[in-house]
Amino acid sequence: MALPSSREKTIGENFQAQTKYRRGALPPKTGKAVSPFKVYANPLEVAALPVPELSGGKGLWGTLATTRESIPEGGRLRQGDVSQLLWASSGFTYGGQRTHATAVPLAGLETYLVVRQIEDVFPGVYHYNPREHALEHLVQTEPSLELADALLDTDISACAAAVAYTGLPGRIDDGAKSRAYRYLYLEAGAAAQCAMLAAVELGLAATVRAEFYDDELARLLQIDGVSEVPLCVLTLGT
Ligand SMILES: Cc1cc2nc3c(=O)[nH]c(=O)nc-3n(C[C@H](O)[C@H](O)[C@H](O)COP(=O)(O)O)c2cc1C
Repeated sequence: MALPSSREKTIGENFQAQTKYRRGALPPKTGKAVSPFKVYANPLEVAALPVPELSGGKGLWGTLATTRESIPEGGRLRQGDVSQLLWASSGFTYGGQRTHATAVPLAGLETYLVVRQIEDVFPGVYHYNPREHALEHLVQTEPSLELADALLDTDISACAAAVAYTGLPGRIDDGAKSRAYRYLYLEAGAAAQCAMLAAVELGLAATVRAEFYDDELARLLQIDGVSEVPLCVLTLGT
């Protein structure tokens, strides 16, 4: 029988192989305490968001069954919509869990909002603070150019805002840390899916994007791109 070819492994194959858990060889947990939330000492401003609805709506089955292409692009985006979507994606349940599935207690993710045109919200870059359900204003300049550039020079003329998810691998205590990236990508997918469902429920067109220039997106979000890495983006209105 022919042996499998000895071609060089791809980065993905290496990652998958090197982060395998093997019986008898689990990495030891360090037990190190880590902060589950990012804290900004001096944001430009902190703006409370409208209280989100925690009941009602069209119903999950109807939302899942809605054909996404039936939602027109470029709709108006209101502060209340964004409040609802951020809560649905990254907020808390009645019992204090995150709305999205998390790999570690309280999540390894952070959520940002890049605003082009939202009623009653200044353009710029914001961090979503889920405990206060508030936006922390980080960047005041109009972000359209940088956002379009970071999204591979995409036409974002119909995009009113973007939600960006980042991950902090250091929050996940897996000993060697390498498996943390698996968890972060899964969490980001879960959060983006919750946001997508909220967008459909609100009648907003939305696109998940995993293609971006990592360093440019990190710069836009004011993160270092190493201890905190960009994971995915949801553009709203396009
Ligand atoms: C994980 C993931 C990553 C994606 N990345 C991008 C992207 O970078 N750029 C883009 O235009 N669309 C991206 N998409 C959207 C898909 O290309 C495509 O629009 C989608 O799968 C079409 O299916 P839908 O309209 O049924 O959601 C992504 C979708 C997913 C789920």
